[in-house]
Amino acid sequence: DAADKGGWSSFMAKEINDQPDAVENTVRGRVSERGVEIPELTALGDERLAGIDRVIIIACGTAAYAGQVGAYAIEQWARVPVDVQLSHEFRYRDPVLSERTMVISVSQSGETMDTLMAVKYALERGVTTVSVCNTQSATIPRESDAAVYTHAGPEVAVASTKAFVAQITALYLIGLHLGRVRGTLSAEDQARAVEQFETLPAKVREAVDTHDQIAQLAHWMADSRSVLFLGRHVGFPIALEGALKLKEIAYIHAEGFAAGELKHGPIALIDHGQPVFVLVPSPRTSPLMHSKVVSNIQEIRARGARVIAIVEVGDTAVLPFADDVIRLPLADPFFEPLLQVIPLQWFALELSTAKGLDVDQPRNLAKSVTVE
Ligand code: G6P
Repeated sequence: DAADKGGWSSFMAKEINDQPDAVENTVRGRVSERGVEIPELTALGDERLAGIDRVIIIACGTAAYAGQVGAYAIEQWARVPVDVQLSHEFRYRDPVLSERTMVISVSQSGETMDTLMAVKYALERGVTTVSVCNTQSATIPRESDAAVYTHAGPEVAVASTKAFVAQITALYLIGLHLGRVRGTLSAEDQARAVEQFETLPAKVREAVDTHDQIAQLAHWMADSRSVLFLGRHVGFPIALEGALKLKEIAYIHAEGFAAGELKHGPIALIDHGQPVFVLVPSPRTSPLMHSKVVSNIQEIRARGARVIAIVEVGDTAVLPFADDVIRLPLADPFFEPLLQVIPLQWFALELSTAKGLDVDQPRNLAKSVTVE
């Protein structure tokens, strides 16, 4: 058992540490000089892909947050409207579907019953179904028109970590493939994304190396009763995922918000000492969003929040207003979330450990939910 954990104290710790490989293995064989090409999508026929006029991503839990991140990128690169729907909500809204709709399911296990039923519903209506899955020959990829496997390796801990970064990676690859086939992505942007994928594993490693700093932080924060997370754009689903991780394994009340929504309600929650993690976009590549998020930090700081800012290295604008600063390597905007989520994973793990809980087997949860 200890051997399987590769010397780590838990499967979750091992799996967080596996993330550079998870990303690298998911990209492998899908990127060439021509850009991104996923053979399983090529098999569907370029004409079919070019004719898609709507994409719906369906998933549950962490996979749904990966879907939310992926949606921003697919929409940007393939210029097609993308919605994300929870699998168990999808059917009941009588969704507008046609043979030009693509449904992309995201599931680590490939066995989540809610997602499987949603895929079957879509198939019955003649929709093109693509499965993003981490488990070879699971039911969902077998039922789907195409399977784009993530190659994160087996994930044992109930709380998903490496599968999440691999899912975002796979969704990005799908977005780049669609963008190429549909002619909506310039050669420069394609090349730029390919270059980001090449340097990503080393950056993910640096993000994993924030562990010691996060462990210190968690030590001081072990008594927290509520933790909030703020993000904008692709940082928003990362805020939701950071909160979910804390609920799942540390049993702490946590919520994620879109930073822009703060003034429309959540700011009323801010009281003296309230811990708030803020995902700060890059000042180089997203100056407008960056300045808005810095203002958000000032607003909550003025009301007594304890601010933990996750920034790119070299961002000094937040320093006067943050109690703690976690620095991550430089990356293009779509590649920031793949780094930002990692300190949040460590934080949940360390708080869970500090509370003496079973990190890998949280109460009331199952790795794969095979009932509706
Ligand atoms: C369960 C797990 C979550 C997971 C969700 C979706 O609720 O506890 O960690 O995100 O199922 O699982 P899937 O296998 O479909 O990705």
